[in-house]
Amino acid sequence: MNLTKKDNIKVLISEEEIHQRVVDLGKEITSDNKGKELLVIGMLNGAFVFMSDLIRQIVLPLKIEFMKAKSYIDTKSTGDVNVSSLSDSSFRGKDILIVEDIIDTGNTMKKITAILKEEKANSVKIAVLLDKPSRREVEMKADYVGFEIEDKFVVGYGLDYNQKYRELSYIGEVNL
Ligand code: IMP
Ligand code: MG
Repeated sequence: MNLTKKDNIKVLISEEEIHQRVVDLGKEITSDNKGKELLVIGMLNGAFVFMSDLIRQIVLPLKIEFMKAKSYIDTKSTGDVNVSSLSDSSFRGKDILIVEDIIDTGNTMKKITAILKEEKANSVKIAVLLDKPSRREVEMKADYVGFEIEDKFVVGYGLDYNQKYRELSYIGEVNL
């Protein structure tokens, strides 16, 4: 029995489906990046669950850092992305894998990749659990995508609605 199941939330992607996809993404990332040490940057808060599962499926030397970006109020993107780095290490010369929960308008990833390139990272790739391509405002393509989804507001497995539902072990559509 799933103790975190909520009545007002419809399951879109189950815990088992997420697990299988994360295993596959880990294999793909491992084989694409052989011989490299990755600096994995998790985007707080949403990516913390995905990141903790994904890094355990990547068989490469890696280091972990976090950045925080905020652009959402309720279910609306404000377009104005506020970024703070929680890392003291330099990004110069590093092979970076950004781990994000979802790409929606694309504004957050556009801003983060621009910052990392400006700081002279050697390479910057993006792994995202969910992608809503129909919502793009700027061009943005992730290197690794868990699932493409329709234009629905989703929660769970790290994603929130006003900071709630991050603890769900599945991705669900919330009935607002
Ligand atoms: P973007 O800058 O519009 O691509 O937005 C990315 C951020 O918006 C993500 O990191 C999420 O925090 C948030 N977001 C976008 N869509 C959803 C959703 O359906 N559920 C929860 N958060 C979302
Ligand atoms: Mg986010």
